[in-house]
Amino acid sequence: MAALILFGGGGDLAMRMLLPSLYFLEHDGLLPEDLKIIGAARSEETPDEYVAKVHDAVKAKAEADRAWDDHSWAKMKARLDYLAVDATDPASLKGLKDRVGDGEVTSFLAVSPSLYGRIVTAMKTAGLAERNCRIVLEKPVGRDLKSFREIDDAVSHAFSEDQVFRIDHYLGKETVQNLTALRFGNTIFEPLWNNLTIDHVQITIGETVGVGDRWPYYDEYGALRDMLQNHMLQLLCLVAMEPPSDLDPESLRNEKVKVLRSLRPITPEEAERVSVRGQYVAGVSEGKPVKGYDEERGADSDTETFVAIRADIDNWRWAGVPFFMRTGKRLPEKRTEIVIQFKPVPHSIFDNEEGEAPANRMIIELQPEEDISLTVMNKRPGLDKRMQLQPITMSLSWGVDGKSAAPPRRRIAYERLLLDAMAGDSTLFVRRDEAEQAWKWVDEVAEAWAESGQKPDEYVAGTWGPDSADMLMMRTGRDWNTTNV
Ligand code: BG6
Repeated sequence: MAALILFGGGGDLAMRMLLPSLYFLEHDGLLPEDLKIIGAARSEETPDEYVAKVHDAVKAKAEADRAWDDHSWAKMKARLDYLAVDATDPASLKGLKDRVGDGEVTSFLAVSPSLYGRIVTAMKTAGLAERNCRIVLEKPVGRDLKSFREIDDAVSHAFSEDQVFRIDHYLGKETVQNLTALRFGNTIFEPLWNNLTIDHVQITIGETVGVGDRWPYYDEYGALRDMLQNHMLQLLCLVAMEPPSDLDPESLRNEKVKVLRSLRPITPEEAERVSVRGQYVAGVSEGKPVKGYDEERGADSDTETFVAIRADIDNWRWAGVPFFMRTGKRLPEKRTEIVIQFKPVPHSIFDNEEGEAPANRMIIELQPEEDISLTVMNKRPGLDKRMQLQPITMSLSWGVDGKSAAPPRRRIAYERLLLDAMAGDSTLFVRRDEAEQAWKWVDEVAEAWAESGQKPDEYVAGTWGPDSADMLMMRTGRDWNTTNV
């Protein structure tokens, strides 16, 4: 028997993401036959009560995707179990150890990261960190390099690195993986993927949601640590890395670490020029009036709910190509995209009525749609005396030739990651040195803000962040992509 233990099994992440993901895997016949799924949390409830809660959470999600069927649920239900535990207490975890038996055990920590250190220590004593065991750590691991190392030292005391799976759920997203296929499965893009042809790169993760009840967590982390340290830097790495020699977990992660090591540190002197912090005030989001962050929190705070930053990668490929990143809560749209902005033609031979033809642009869209598109110039049809150019956008996504199969159901990123962790494949997980490098750079940003006294600029909820974020771009003669917005 193999077992998946969900610590924090009754919490938000488990109910919203992990258990629905497991249901979808069940529905598609992808779960190992002998897998047991055990919810483990503090709450004193019976397995039946737990199963009833899981049923409601899973059914709502599955029905929305038209993937609910009683047979799949019956199979999943037969796997489910629940045990009330104090995960920091080895004696309490011994009961869990007895329940899982001697097969492979994957433990997912969907609990507050402040407990990680104590939990792994208790797991070791209870026999849940043997060679047949793996551990999955949800982000954020730590709040800075120092606290990351403290937690990770405790983890590495119990588990060896090949047993540790640090999750960044963005790596489980289909389009994020497709980016690697696009770059290294084609010959036509890679020769252009450098500072000779690319002017700059933009990465945007916009969210309409506010912080709301999550403020006790969020207030300690802010957008810098909640989004930039992990999701955004991972996307940057995948765009910027050199071709790995194969898809072995170490080959890929070696390349990502090299990118992180090449990030130019941000100093207090230039912090204001290359970075923006923002915080939303009351406004209108998706047609409804919403509170400002300070009102949600109930007190004034200097936490940023928006960050925009210019990153420079000091290596041969990217010298002179800025990477602009921005992310925020209460923006007008839930939109995640990577824009590869190519340089304009070196000399235009066209006399375009509408002015200079725009340069080529590739947009890798992760949300709301999954799509990769390329804008190229072609001739406006007709008998114009002077040839006129017009941009056309080609979609490189699924089924575009009309012959390919319909796109598969859009999966929750955790589906892929849960399967990989249970199979021991760490390619899509974050290695220790990778997380360390990311924290190191983020710490420098945070220190630069602290030293220069840079505070968040206000932006009205429902807008694309403070004006200073536009200025960040305009100062360099560029602007944020507004295609599709
Ligand atoms: C999480 C952050 O890691 O990612 C959240 O903690 C954020 O603040 C979420 O809302 C965004 O994920 P996604 O997949 O919806 O873009």
